[in-house]
Amino acid sequence: MKHTLSEIEKIELEKLYQSFLNNDHILKMKTIPMHRGSNCYIHSFKVAKICIKKAVKKGGYNLSNLLIAAILHDYYLYDWRKNKSLKKKHGSRHPYVANENAKKDFHISSEVSEIILSHMWPLTPKSFPKSKEAKLVNYVDDLVATKEFLLSSRYKKKHEEEYLREISSLF
Ligand SMILES: [Fe+2]
Ligand SMILES: [Fe+2]
Repeated sequence: MKHTLSEIEKIELEKLYQSFLNNDHILKMKTIPMHRGSNCYIHSFKVAKICIKKAVKKGGYNLSNLLIAAILHDYYLYDWRKNKSLKKKHGSRHPYVANENAKKDFHISSEVSEIILSHMWPLTPKSFPKSKEAKLVNYVDDLVATKEFLLSSRYKKKHEEEYLREISSLF
């Protein structure tokens, strides 16, 4: 059976997405470089959009938890390139930093917390993605990061505008 969302569900999710897109805390992610050319803001909203697309198609997901967690999964707000001690263990450490920041600035639920904490598994062996939402963020994050990494040499300023246009709405 093909799953779709009602117009009201779409409007509600879009509203939630837009509230993060223009949030002052979230805008700080634009200053965090990622995978050479990309930045944390673009990366996170890309992950969120793909997660929602896949989840709507499959059905049975908690879409608001999924959306919030996908947007906040890399909300660690530091540039590991600028500090050797941060570079060390960044892969396994940043989910915990992102979770703490997200709890402080957005008062997230425990379900959202779990998704953020497990998004780098297996680098974080103790934080296994248990929920289907966590499994999806873990998978899509890898997908987007790999794509960004492979495209990084071709990344130019004009791509940033293109990406910003792409992420400017959820649907
Ligand atoms: Fe991450
Ligand atoms: Fe990520």
